[in-house]
Formats: sequence, C-alpha cells, structure tokens
Amino acid sequence: MKCTLYHADTRKTLDDLLADAERQAGAWKDPKPSPGAPKPVTPLERFTAVKDLYMAIDRPFGNLMYSLIRATGAQTVVEFGTSFGISTIFLAAAVRDNGAGKVLTTEFIPEKVETAKKNLTKAGLVDLIDFRIGDALQTLKDPMPGPVDFVFLDGEKSMYLDVLKALEPQMKPGCLIAADNTDQDGTKTFLEYIREPDNGYMTSPLLTLGGTKPESGHEISVRIIAVVPPLGPVDLFDHP
Ligand SMILES: C[S@@+](CC[C@H](N)C(=O)[O-])C[C@H]1O[C@@H](n2cnc3c(N)ncnc32)[C@H](O)[C@@H]1O
Repeated sequence: MKCTLYHADTRKTLDDLLADAERQAGAWKDPKPSPGAPKPVTPLERFTAVKDLYMAIDRPFGNLMYSLIRATGAQTVVEFGTSFGISTIFLAAAVRDNGAGKVLTTEFIPEKVETAKKNLTKAGLVDLIDFRIGDALQTLKDPMPGPVDFVFLDGEKSMYLDVLKALEPQMKPGCLIAADNTDQDGTKTFLEYIREPDNGYMTSPLLTLGGTKPESGHEISVRIIAVVPPLGPVDLFDHP
C-alpha cells in the first residue's frame, strides 16, 4: 500500500466522517438562544455551545497537508483544534508514511477528544497521536516529542497568533505552518504578523475549492530562520 489514506480502514473511516460532516453542515441551523439564557462569551463557552459540530476541514485541504508533510519528511506535527479528528487522520497518515514521528493534537472539550480517539482507532492511526486535553496555551507548554516540523492552526481563530508565538521557540528552521479559515475576521492579527517579513516567515494565501463550501481560505507559511548565515556581498574581482 503506497499511501495510508488509501488503506481500507483509514479510507472508510475518513469517507464516513467527511460524509457525516458534509450532511451536518448542510442541515445545521444557527440555534436561537432561549430567552434569558446567558450568552456564551469565552472561546470555551462558545465552542461548548456547538460541541456536536465537526467544523472540519474539507478533503482538498487535508490532501494538501498530507502532501506537505510527506514532501518535507515532517515527523513532529502539532495541531491546534482536534474536534472529532478528521484533520488529525490526514496528518497522522502522512506521519505514518514518513516512517516515524508523532502528531500532538490539542482540544479543550473532553467529549470531543473521546470521539476523536475512537475515530483515530478505527482509522488505525491512534498509536501516532498524543492527545492533549485542555486549553492549547496550557497543553502546549508540556514537552514536545521533538523540534516541531509542521503546525496546523484550526482552533479559536483569535488565538492563532498566541499559539504560533508559543510554538516559535520549538520550531525547526523550515517548519511549515498551515492555517485554516483565514477568511474569518478573528485571524487578522495572525495574518498581519506572519505576513510581516521581519517576523521570519515566507507566506502565501491560498484558496481550496470543493467540499462543504465552494471555497475555503488558508495561509501556508514557512519559518525562514536560516540554517547557515545568509551570504554576504561577493567581490568578484577580489583575486590576487
Ligand atoms: C474548527 S474545529 C477543528 C476541526 C478539526 N481540525 C478538523 O478539521 O476535523 C475547532 C476545534 O478547536 C477546539 N478549540 C478551540 N479553541 C481551543 C483552545 N483554546 N484550546 C483547545 N481547543 C480549542 C474547539 O473545541 C473545536 O473542537
């Protein structure tokens, strides 16, 4: 088998989950809050109010992340926002096919983690996952299995920048960062930061087509801290 995504158990689990997520996205209506009920304010309250929703990536973006992880041989992959584990399956399949490594994924709703564990077990990939339950800014403080090669940002949008900065000291030069939902307002401070050349990234906006939405916005960035000092000016005539 050349690609774990085509392995029977992985493929069936992913196909079933993506189909379920697509059905749910088509049928979902924003519920009217009952009169007098407190409005969810914090990210945890807001995500808990919709804890049955997948809010998952679509297949084209999953396939792209699989390809990026394979092309770079990434071994330590960090995911912000597990939900029910659809994106985690793409990340873990790529790590499996690279031959070694771990996916560290963080989610603050414990019931979602339980479902994600079951889904990753069905997909035959659970042995590659380090599930961290709690707020990402806390759970990411615990030691990583190695220097970070690939980061996927898909949790609370207004926290992308804080999560990125928390991971920066642990990123390898050449670490890739894939961010989802960059068409949402909450990602603005993250985008401003990562697009500022002085902050050490080369970055590209990207749209993928298909899935639950006609198109989805992402940002793909690479940490460009040089491995060797950049070349200085060369004097071509400096010969004896
Ligand atoms: C868009 S969904 C993730 C979808 C998932 N990546 C996928 O494609 O299948 C975002 C998830 O991030 C979780 N989340 C949001 N903010 C978080 C935080 N600060 N720490 C941990 N988890 C968080 C939410 O509970 C939610 O399940």
